[in-house]
Amino acid sequence: MISKKLQDAINCQIVAEMWSSNLYLSMSFYLQKEGFDGFASWMLKQSQEELGHAYDLANYMMKRGGIAKVDKVDVVPQDWESVQAVFEDVYEHECRVSAMIDELVNVAAEEKDKASQDFLWGYVREQVEEEATAKGIVDKIRICGKEGLLFLDDKMGQRQ
Ligand SMILES: [Fe+2]
Ligand SMILES: [Fe+2]
Repeated sequence: MISKKLQDAINCQIVAEMWSSNLYLSMSFYLQKEGFDGFASWMLKQSQEELGHAYDLANYMMKRGGIAKVDKVDVVPQDWESVQAVFEDVYEHECRVSAMIDELVNVAAEEKDKASQDFLWGYVREQVEEEATAKGIVDKIRICGKEGLLFLDDKMGQRQ
């Protein structure tokens, strides 16, 4: 059985994952508008992945006898200056999410809930990849410059 304190913290994270999903969907629409179909398609998949995190957290909590809740999701930005600015935001956002997941592990530890710590460590490890992927794309965009963006757009569109 999951504690009320951890249940509340995970419910906050569910909303945060939904916000991330909306942020990436908004970015995908912006990239599409700017004519970068590949970047837009990559970002749409990223948006779906974030919604998947919300489902997984909810499913885990329900298995442990907790109650999952959908709450109000704040508005997300709708405009960026460039493709590079979009991915710099992604990187910053993923770093913030990593800190949030770390805090969730702390709550699970305070509650002496070993199963939840184990479950949440999976997210801690996944965040390492999320940060590295975002940073890698920012670096590539910088190296490519404006002329290389279409080549990169094509590559990004190949994400499965
Ligand atoms: Fe996530
Ligand atoms: Fe993420």
